[in-house]
Amino acid sequence: MEELLKKLIEKNKIYTSEGTVANYIPELDKANKNALGIFITTIDGEEFYAGDYDTKFTIQSISKIISLMLAILDNGEDYVFSKVGMEPSGDPFNSIRKLETSSRKKPYNPMINAGAIAVASMIKGKNEHDKFSRLLDFTKLITENNFLDLNYKIYCGEAETGFKNAAMAYFLKGEGIIEGDVKEALNIYFKQCSIEGTAQTISKLAKFLANDGVLTNGERIISTRIAKIIKTLMVTCGMYDSSGEFAVRVGLPSKSGVGGGICTVVPGKMGIGVFGPALDKKGNSLAGGHLLEDLSNELNLNIF
Ligand code: DON
Repeated sequence: MEELLKKLIEKNKIYTSEGTVANYIPELDKANKNALGIFITTIDGEEFYAGDYDTKFTIQSISKIISLMLAILDNGEDYVFSKVGMEPSGDPFNSIRKLETSSRKKPYNPMINAGAIAVASMIKGKNEHDKFSRLLDFTKLITENNFLDLNYKIYCGEAETGFKNAAMAYFLKGEGIIEGDVKEALNIYFKQCSIEGTAQTISKLAKFLANDGVLTNGERIISTRIAKIIKTLMVTCGMYDSSGEFAVRVGLPSKSGVGGGICTVVPGKMGIGVFGPALDKKGNSLAGGHLLEDLSNELNLNIF
């Protein structure tokens, strides 16, 4: 397997030069554009890796699947989806336009920024610190990694540049979608995006979902129903307005982040974490997508 992973990294490295590293924060712009790595964790605990699998990056929008799990655990499915839809938006991840023009009056889904900010506002806790601590602890639990933390510089950059996110959050407050404090919801969102990990970290997250929400020690953390919701929304909305094409090309529930990560679930088999910070125009890792397509074809992983 490791030989195959090395071969596919070499083959797909070429695409890193065609993408662009996220540069809305100077700290993100420092990423090595040519990096490409992969880490696989099987349900049985076997690990395979190649390339830049241990380079640190911020998980960014991959955190949206984690906050969604916790928000559903905290509030129940009915409440969460009374505030956020389940439909692909067909728009970029940071688009604001459908918030007002659609008759739904709620974000299309929890994977776009507007939906994720609404979800962040639903996490329970005494105050912002407590709410984010719960989210970070939950992330550590399901990735089976006690050493995770946020990258403070990136968090500050998110907070300093997140004007569109702030606009959406205040709009959501005006519509009654956000019930609590807007600034608190925004800060939790900025912090969750700034959690730092590696391809290994997101492969563990994917493996947790591949194992239907059960940890390596057999402990069930989320119900089969919640695991199913997350995996389905990853297929339909996880790669934003590329989700349809990605489903055809790769055929696996996946969630990307502008830090260059893609978290890909092979249900019942394995979790895959990919890192390649050069992004395509939709904000997804360009070489990472090609790498996953090749891997899916080589190992016949497509679930459809
Ligand atoms: O809200 C933002 O702009 C970023 N912190 C996260 C967005 C993100 O990762 C979108 N994914 N591709």
